[in-house]
Amino acid sequence: MSSRNILVTHALPYANGPLHIGHLLGYLQCDIWVRARRMAGDQVVFVSADDAHGTPIMLAAEKAGLAPEEFIRGIQASHERDFADFGVVYDNYYTTHSEENRELASLIYTRLRDAGHIEKRLIRQLYDPVKQMFLPDRYIKGTCPNCGTPDQYGDNCENCGATYAPTDLIDPHSVVSGATPELRDSEHYFFKVGDFTTLLRGWLAGKLTNSKPVVHSSVAAKLKEWLDAEGGVRDWDISRDAPYFGFPIPDAPGKFFYVWLDAPVGYLASFRNWCTRTGTDFDAWLAPNSAAEMHHFIGKDIVNFHGLFWPAMLHGAKLRTPTALHVNGYLTVDGAKMSKSRGTFVMARTYLDAGLDADYLRYYFATILGPAPVDVDLDLKAFEERVNSHLVGKWVNIASRTAGFVHRHFGGRLATALPADEAARYADAAHRLAHCAALFDAGEFAAATREIMTVADEANAYVAANAPWNLAKDESKLAQLHTVCTLALNYFRLLSAYLAPIVPATATRALALFNETPARFDAAAQPLLGAAINEFSALAARVDAKKIETMIEASKESLAPSASAGAGAKPSTPNPPLEREGSSKSTRSSGAAVSPQPSALGPALVSIDDFARLDLRIGKVVACEFVDGSDKLLRFELDAGELGKRQIFSGIRAAYAEPSRLVGRNVVFIANLAPRKMRFGVSEGMILSAGTGDADLFLLDADQGARPGAQVK
Ligand code: MSP
Ligand code: ZN
Repeated sequence: MSSRNILVTHALPYANGPLHIGHLLGYLQCDIWVRARRMAGDQVVFVSADDAHGTPIMLAAEKAGLAPEEFIRGIQASHERDFADFGVVYDNYYTTHSEENRELASLIYTRLRDAGHIEKRLIRQLYDPVKQMFLPDRYIKGTCPNCGTPDQYGDNCENCGATYAPTDLIDPHSVVSGATPELRDSEHYFFKVGDFTTLLRGWLAGKLTNSKPVVHSSVAAKLKEWLDAEGGVRDWDISRDAPYFGFPIPDAPGKFFYVWLDAPVGYLASFRNWCTRTGTDFDAWLAPNSAAEMHHFIGKDIVNFHGLFWPAMLHGAKLRTPTALHVNGYLTVDGAKMSKSRGTFVMARTYLDAGLDADYLRYYFATILGPAPVDVDLDLKAFEERVNSHLVGKWVNIASRTAGFVHRHFGGRLATALPADEAARYADAAHRLAHCAALFDAGEFAAATREIMTVADEANAYVAANAPWNLAKDESKLAQLHTVCTLALNYFRLLSAYLAPIVPATATRALALFNETPARFDAAAQPLLGAAINEFSALAARVDAKKIETMIEASKESLAPSASAGAGAKPSTPNPPLEREGSSKSTRSSGAAVSPQPSALGPALVSIDDFARLDLRIGKVVACEFVDGSDKLLRFELDAGELGKRQIFSGIRAAYAEPSRLVGRNVVFIANLAPRKMRFGVSEGMILSAGTGDADLFLLDADQGARPGAQVK
């Protein structure tokens, strides 16, 4: 196949805090893909930028006592440093607060407006009379109208999960000033996304990409659901009132582009900046009939912006549409949402400062990542074991067991030829690994790492079977020793080439043994023979469990960026609402675009080993009662057989009016959950129930005959 011209971007991080390891999941995935395309011979331009606009950044800067321009500069420097140290290497890293972006956003807007796709409407929105600004939902707090919990955000309740309009809150107040907000009218600008329904359907069906799918099937299903929604895709509110940190809308005094309008345009602005520097024809790349590809890597929470609004904007402005969206799921740590109290909300810098190698996280993610946008778990124990076993034990080990003999016995030179058997082995391995280029292209990183490790296993088995350490003792077997070491080191060289997109720094050190750098996969198609090699020095150290501990401890102390940036940063729900910054329900009721969450994309796959880590047991309820001072909890006493008696507090009070009637039931509970000290006593496990919460909760129980303490498998 002839080489492809590809523009690659990944979601632009907000310039309001440092990167965390959740961000890195998608960013490292993108970088691995880019490196693999280059090693396959394609021409890739990889650009990114900071997403610098919007209310949260404006307020965070104010809080820090800085002008927004100054504030975002500092954050961008920290992002660029983190990216560089994790091996994410751009052709251009820019900012959405740039002249190029102002021009391009205005150009796209003007073209949409002139073609009749922009409409003005009055909306009612909550206004802070003290701060004199309209308030996004996340900047209004009050008492939940559903369950009465105080101090809840304007869009949903963290206690009961209810979603509502900020105007429904009891005793609402502005997070910014504390004032009671009032309803005011404001004229907003809407982009009529629905005008592009046919285009979007065609784009999704691959009509613009020679039938190549533009998104994974599960993402396509979600997008189709939005396209098929009753009434069609709703208009999208693209304006915000002053004060706002962003670009003024041309010919609309006091109105600014909503941050999400100019954010994806920022991809093009960064690219244009690069084109100017390199003398590349920007317009040709962006023309609707361009032969170049454009790939966006994004997280699952921002699929609507990239799968609906963005292609519509591009097409409406007479520019090309994206070739593909690569969507990643969310990162969890040790099976749970990243958490500040558990120390699993880890900043990118904290990982590095603990002395952990960036390549190790890259490798671990690669062993799990596939093309489906499923959540990925960073299991810290598995991380340690996998890195040690695969990278150190399988890969590096091949060279460390054989390179020394080449220097001691053969003047540091590889054999000039391989016997037929060994040559055939090499050709077979090279042939099988060549398939990995396509796996990388398809986002099948986990499959690629499996293939690579299978070959590493074969190499190690070959070394073990031929025991070079024994051959070295026998003068008459030196030729055989040379053959064994030459093939083993060639295996190592081949594996290093295919691991290079994943662990670039380590692979660079590995290939330096042969005076090579990672260049192209097919550079290793033929074995390296007769060449001088360098001294082997340790390439990669085992992961030290103490460093992981250090990282977790350090994360318990440090505050997450969203906490310091205040409201409006990522909300702490596992599937964050899609339009977190702007969309008040008041815009919703006026018919603005608000899209459902991509929760249908589901949680990560787990292995049977993950499941086996849970000690699920049958407990016979011996007592169950209300808890004084809690309107949510029931206190259970369980007979857990050989495990003795267990006290467990369970938040299912709303579902069971008469707790005493639960006595005698055989419930299912997690026996090895760390005990939790609560105000009312220690809870020693967790009882399983099904449902969404509150009254919609149903205890699971076992059929008659199940013995207390019996394991659930
Ligand atoms: N600024 C927008 C993107 C604009 S793109 C034109 C944004 N920024 S973000 O900083 O909140 O997120 C950046 C990327 O990180 C997004 O792709 C988001 O999905 C991803 N992630 C943020 N937290 C994450 C996890 N915990 N896990 C995996 N990805 C996560 O959204
Ligand atoms: Zn509530």
